[in-house]
Amino acid sequence: MPVRVAVIPAAGLGTRFLPATKVVPKELLPVFDTPSLQHTVDEAIGAGIEHIILISNRAKPAIEVFAEEASGGARITVVYQDSPRGLGHAVECARELVGDAPFAVLLPDELMGDSSHLKDLVAEYEATGKAAIGLKRVPRNEVTAYGCVTPQGVPDANGRVGIRDVVEKPNAVDAPSDLVIIGRYVFGRDVFGFLATLKPAAGGELQLSDAIGNMARTGKVNGVLISCTRHDTGTPMGMLTASIDAALKRRDVGPQLRAWLETRLKGEQT
Ligand code: G1P
Repeated sequence: MPVRVAVIPAAGLGTRFLPATKVVPKELLPVFDTPSLQHTVDEAIGAGIEHIILISNRAKPAIEVFAEEASGGARITVVYQDSPRGLGHAVECARELVGDAPFAVLLPDELMGDSSHLKDLVAEYEATGKAAIGLKRVPRNEVTAYGCVTPQGVPDANGRVGIRDVVEKPNAVDAPSDLVIIGRYVFGRDVFGFLATLKPAAGGELQLSDAIGNMARTGKVNGVLISCTRHDTGTPMGMLTASIDAALKRRDVGPQLRAWLETRLKGEQT
């Protein structure tokens, strides 16, 4: 079955972006002149997605307005996660709407330069019938911020590798590898079975990584190394670099911004 549905969890309260998030949900902060979430929606549509399920929070009514106004052509439905019980629980909230269809999950804190990586994951899922998760190699001291995988050997020439297990935010010394999950996933409906049996992890949260780990131990998960640029917009610094990159790509303002940056970096006043 082709992948036409995507789930975007957007229920977090965005405390790293206070005070801005007192009035604007984190996902609607602009990356240059476009709400960050629109970039994620565009990435999904570019990979063939036709129905987007946004998991939101009733404290963020602006997300619903966004869903009505968003451009691009996909249908957007909002579902509420009323209590913050973790990413695993957020994905589970989409169960009824997803039904039996395979689906992508895109964490909007990660902004990709284009749809190529999600397309790769969709192709991998459609070719193998196994869950496909996006991976990136990071320096050992950075694995602590991510889900970290135990690979079956080394990735092949196309960046594909089987996954044996996953551990959420390990200590650098205990980490099974330097390959981490970068917030892009494609699942079949079987993931809901693994989510349903999750036990709360540290902080009382149901971790998506634990469900993927359980699935991986049955041999049903592959990883695909990322092939495009990526910004971690979960941090103010990542938002800034994403904005600069987005503006540099634009024909109308790109050349002007490049010239300004060059002058500024030489230490000259502008
Ligand atoms: C989440 C996931 C983690 C993944 C990360 C990617 O963590 O739980 O496995 O590696 O997103 O951004 P969070 O950043 O929400 O703490």
